[in-house]
Amino acid sequence: METYERPASHSSNSEIASGNQQQGHPIEEWDEPYIECRDLFKIFKRAELEVVALRGIDMEVEQGEMVAIVGASGSGKSTLLNILSGLDRPSAGQVRVGHRDLLNISDQELVLYRRLEVGFVWQATARNLVPYLSARDNIELPQAIAGKDMSSRRARSLELLSILDMEDKADRKIHQLSGGEQQRLAIAVGMANSPPLLLADEPTGELDTQMASQVFQLLREINRIYHVTIVVVTHYQGVVEHMDRVLHIRDGRISSESRLEPGQHGTENALHEEYLVVDRVGRLQLPQEYVDKLHIQGFAKADIAGDQVNIKPASRSPKPGQGQRSDTAESA
Ligand SMILES: Nc1ncnc2c1ncn2[C@@H]1O[C@H](COP(=O)(O)OP(=O)(O)OP(=O)(O)O)[C@@H](O)[C@H]1O
Ligand SMILES: [Mg+2]
Repeated sequence: METYERPASHSSNSEIASGNQQQGHPIEEWDEPYIECRDLFKIFKRAELEVVALRGIDMEVEQGEMVAIVGASGSGKSTLLNILSGLDRPSAGQVRVGHRDLLNISDQELVLYRRLEVGFVWQATARNLVPYLSARDNIELPQAIAGKDMSSRRARSLELLSILDMEDKADRKIHQLSGGEQQRLAIAVGMANSPPLLLADEPTGELDTQMASQVFQLLREINRIYHVTIVVVTHYQGVVEHMDRVLHIRDGRISSESRLEPGQHGTENALHEEYLVVDRVGRLQLPQEYVDKLHIQGFAKADIAGDQVNIKPASRSPKPGQGQRSDTAESA
């Protein structure tokens, strides 16, 4: 099966949610999460070696949400993004984006998905932009590949260049733009075919803090105007200020999420809260610093105290024949 049933409440002919009359296709509206991953696994096999890069990702992203994924090197961030972008296939679990089931999708559908339903921005500008084309032609190239006619290509590139505030730089070649301008242009290229989903893997990795902040501001602007869902992998420190949510990935699983409390965006006293993710069967990951501080090794005891759960370090179960009492069901 390649597609999901369209929900009854799902209008196929909706306006761009912000009400802004921009060019390009209106984005279909979804009442259910736009991205849904359930127990998602990715295993890389090379010769005898297996690497489990994703080990049970549970994640939902609403349509029009702007979400960052952060985590240590090797935790699985790019692997997850590559699956969401259709560049790589998952090994097991479920992953749905819009009406596409990315686990069971055919190669043909995957090509269409990548071309029309997802925009992608890489860390290295060389991967995002064609150096011998102008800024305008870079935005028009993906549209030409998608078969758009000349006038709609031109209208779309002008519209995006005006959002970037770079109309006066339309004819410049890539090397005549600053690093920040190149990454902002890369976002416009990603949005060229009006995809409902924009993904970015460390788009500010090669930029200084000020330029990085401008890139995140542009992402927010694009998100507001087009109601596009955005998922961005980043190491940028101040990212939570710009996002609806920040998901922390650890060892191939989402361990916690942070967000600014409602109404706090842009204020000086913004309250930044971090929550542990507890999955449907009650699994959670304790922060590594707690595990280290309490010297938890293999076992812990959990007790309910009022409306709280207390977790205490516990020793490993004794070896067979060493003090195991048959009436201690508690030690199980
Ligand atoms: N093509 C591949 N073949 C084998 N192993 C891979 C492949 N791609 C990624 N891995 C492994 O999967 C794990 C997750 O890698 P991934 O690139 O998703 O990490 P990351 O969180 O993006 O790290 P970074 O912050 O360094 O970019 C790592 O152990 C990595 O070595
Ligand atoms: Mg990566």
